[in-house]
Amino acid sequence: MSSPLQSVQGMSDIAAPDVRLWQRLEEIARATLARYGFEELRTPIVEFESVFTRSIGSTTDVVQKEMYVFEKGGRRLALRPEGTAGVMRYAAGLGPMETAGARWFYIGPMFRSERPQAGRRRQFHQCGVECLEPPSPLVDAEILALQVDLLRAWGLGECEVRLSTRGAGADAARVAEGLRDALAPREAELCEDCRRRINENVLRVLDCKQPACRAVVETLPEPTSFMDETSRTYLAQVAEHLDDLQVKHVRDPLLVRGLDYYEHTVWEITNSALGAQNAVAGGGRYRMELGGRELTGVGFAIGLERVVSVLQTLGRAEELLVPGAPLVWLVGLGDAAQRQNLSLMQSLRTAGLTCRMATGGSMKSQMRAANKAGAAWAVIRGDDELAGGVAALKNMETGEQANVPLAELAGKLTGAQK
Ligand code: HAM
Repeated sequence: MSSPLQSVQGMSDIAAPDVRLWQRLEEIARATLARYGFEELRTPIVEFESVFTRSIGSTTDVVQKEMYVFEKGGRRLALRPEGTAGVMRYAAGLGPMETAGARWFYIGPMFRSERPQAGRRRQFHQCGVECLEPPSPLVDAEILALQVDLLRAWGLGECEVRLSTRGAGADAARVAEGLRDALAPREAELCEDCRRRINENVLRVLDCKQPACRAVVETLPEPTSFMDETSRTYLAQVAEHLDDLQVKHVRDPLLVRGLDYYEHTVWEITNSALGAQNAVAGGGRYRMELGGRELTGVGFAIGLERVVSVLQTLGRAEELLVPGAPLVWLVGLGDAAQRQNLSLMQSLRTAGLTCRMATGGSMKSQMRAANKAGAAWAVIRGDDELAGGVAALKNMETGEQANVPLAELAGKLTGAQK
């Protein structure tokens, strides 16, 4: 039985002070992405299931095992497991003039019903981009460089970029056939899943973690060897542009992304501060058909839980926490002072100050609340102060206290903040 107080396994609350780190990461992301010409796009969290099955691929783990699907009003709906499909569903509904050259970013929750383990969440958050400019190695390199720039702006330190290609056009069929031929004589050595994958989705065999399968995979010819020369040249050009941009990367011929919509460039970014689930981000160029329209783009998504986890492991999370504005705590002794403090608090806020008060309680309990909240100042009023048109202003750090005329209070407090 699940308790009504528990959150669903693999889904967490993000509360203060951690939530301030999340806000800071989002703020840095928005500023960085704006410099690259990206506009925010907020798509729904729920889409028709077909939006994902058609684009991500019906034989992928994400679609086969991990999607939260439910039926409502006779339609099959799904919680989004990633952001690209929804963005492309939106783009497919626009005219070609509106999508040409579009650059969109998104930050938000995604849902995958994975077996919970370190680094694998059932609700997690991605910061992603999709760029619909015409295919070019220049754009792919620029987008990858943006991702590295963003990870650096967040203070992630050294990350490894692994780069590969899915090829284009007839390459996918040729790679599948080449790998199937190479695997056929070794089939008995593979795990049960991989024996099924040979016919269903042979690239997945390259990704299997079983030691026996890994041993077979290491002896296979590189998938790129079955590709057309133009695909290999495309990848070489992306790599050259990355060198120009001084983005360090390594070729990983066995890199398999878990989503089927990719063609040409694919990449993954890992960080050694993470354990087994060390992919911080992934991306690539893709092609998909939605609503009779074919769309191509290049993009990436960064897993924000994993970014937070790297920052915490590196001990850098604290640096990113911007201290909140100094808090002014209003203490009122007696009903009249409490009532007038409510109005005073609003006028101090209008002057730009951050204020709170406790309703009721003794002087001692109100001061305790001020301390607990980390207040920098206490503004104390009882009947005498009300009659005299003053407030006792206490510096909570030094303990110094002095009466200040009410008309001067806001000016004194805002002055003290500078
Ligand atoms: P993805 O590689 O499936 O790509 O996910 C991107 C990132 O999301 C991963 O590198 C990881 O950091 C994070 N992530 C994925 N699953 C989980 C999970 N269960 N728990 C925690 N974090 C997770 C995509 O989603 C593509 N849409 C990226 C893309 C955009 N390609 C082109 N455009």
